[in-house]
Amino acid sequence: MLSYQHSYHAGNHADVLKHIILGEVVAGMQKKETPIFLLDAFASRGIYDLNSPEAQKNREFETGIARLWALRNDPHPLGVARWFKLIEQKNSDGDFSHLPGSTALLAAMMRPQDRLAACDLHPQEFEGLQASFKSSRNLALHKRDAFEAMKALLPPKEKRGMVFLDPSYEEKGEYRKLATAVAKVYSRFAGGVYVVWYPLLPAANHNELFAVLRRAGIRKILRIELDCHGAFPQMQMQGSGMLIVNPPWAAEDAMKASLHWINTHLLSGKGKTHFGWLVPE
Ligand SMILES: C[S@@+](CC[C@H](N)C(=O)[O-])C[C@H]1O[C@@H](n2cnc3c(N)ncnc32)[C@H](O)[C@@H]1O
Repeated sequence: MLSYQHSYHAGNHADVLKHIILGEVVAGMQKKETPIFLLDAFASRGIYDLNSPEAQKNREFETGIARLWALRNDPHPLGVARWFKLIEQKNSDGDFSHLPGSTALLAAMMRPQDRLAACDLHPQEFEGLQASFKSSRNLALHKRDAFEAMKALLPPKEKRGMVFLDPSYEEKGEYRKLATAVAKVYSRFAGGVYVVWYPLLPAANHNELFAVLRRAGIRKILRIELDCHGAFPQMQMQGSGMLIVNPPWAAEDAMKASLHWINTHLLSGKGKTHFGWLVPE
């Protein structure tokens, strides 16, 4: 079932956390010169139009980018500065209506020695990807199932890789499915960095994701979470989190600083943050 379209949600509080932390992970990995393979397994369309009828329907960007845009010229942590700069680059008119998503962020951060593959199965989202990015020697667009792509493309020839897993969780079973897929691919590529995003919803289905990953015996899983603590009563999703398997040590302080900045500026410090190991080394 593919009814989800990220344009309805683009730029909300979860996207802020997701894109800033993802940028920090990649920047941490890039402290080493050796090439990296980046897999954006659930890519969506890469760039979202916040003036589209979809984005305007619930105006979720008002819980995220719209609250923060005025702060773009203030001093902030590096990861936040990178995110603002990228949005500015996509909006030469000084607006924030073209919001870069995960593929745009990864494409902008990629160095000549890196490679990026972005997958989406939804026909319209894939068309969006094709409209925004040109396939090249180091950028491949796949209209392909993410789970199948993980099997086929990993481990990468570079032997260093980051996989971003940002599914739509349209069905309850997707938490288990995703965790099982990560465990499987980890058994063939244990050195990979896996970044898994999850929503905080009343049903708390993310606990199943945690349980399956814990049981799989994977070590070094960092858990970063921002619970908005009722700040957006109009939304079902009260916060979100990210699990990072094998986080680059060089990124840990930067991620902490970014999480703190988001809580301070988006939620006046009233959100509940979590930064710690789900499973330590
Ligand atoms: C939450 S959105 C991704 C947002 C994007 N990562 C970003 O940050 O800008 C999830 C996307 O996954 C796609 N999707 C869902 N199931 C998929 C599957 N099995 N394989 C590939 N794409 C899938 C959906 O079409 C949707 O566009």
